[in-house]
Amino acid sequence: MTDRREHWDHTYTVKSDTAVSWYQDVPERSLALIRKAGKGSIIDIGGGASRLVDRLLAENYDDLTVLDISDVALGRSKERLGTEAGKIAWIIADIKQWKPERQWDVWHDRAVFHFLTDTAAQDAYIAALRAGTRPGSHAVISTFALSGPEKCSGLPVQRYSAETLAARLGQDFVLQIREAETHPTPFGTTQDFTYALFRRI
Ligand SMILES: C[S@@+](CC[C@H](N)C(=O)[O-])C[C@H]1O[C@@H](n2cnc3c(N)ncnc32)[C@H](O)[C@@H]1O
Repeated sequence: MTDRREHWDHTYTVKSDTAVSWYQDVPERSLALIRKAGKGSIIDIGGGASRLVDRLLAENYDDLTVLDISDVALGRSKERLGTEAGKIAWIIADIKQWKPERQWDVWHDRAVFHFLTDTAAQDAYIAALRAGTRPGSHAVISTFALSGPEKCSGLPVQRYSAETLAARLGQDFVLQIREAETHPTPFGTTQDFTYALFRRI
């Protein structure tokens, strides 16, 4: 995982976590979709330095895991959370190579799956998604929309509508809610995102 890991470690080393294009103070749409999925265990895939986990702790979710390829990114979150960081399971892994050892009720991913632009990498992600969930689990996944940018953090992305995302995940991930969001970046630009809530059957 070295090339991509170096990319992300470098990004989080040279930029503050509030200066990256994907920064959100409050990840409102993710939180709303996670609440719709119901209470339970949650894994944030590619959670990086996101404040999602802070908000989930504040809402008394007590089985939280954050996975990211970059230990620098996770270090930022641990530092911000202080002693609260001990309530969270942290996993440093490349999602394409990771083999989950348990299942979660909610799988959350904002802006990670879209970096996987070849079929083999997408298949590896979906294999991890299947291994890390069970029938009845939910997945909240957001990517750049069809009208969104072609790159993120200098890397090419695959853009999706909720329908094309659903088609890629497969028939046992049933699309329940689709939402569009125009994300304001810290630089005054905007990025169109697709958000989707799936239930695994
Ligand atoms: C655009 S950022 C989004 C971060 C976070 N989800 C958020 O919304 O603030 C993408 C994140 O995915 C992580 N990432 C990229 N490729 C990954 C991979 N193959 N496996 C695990 N994490 C990855 C990066 O380190 C980074 O933290």
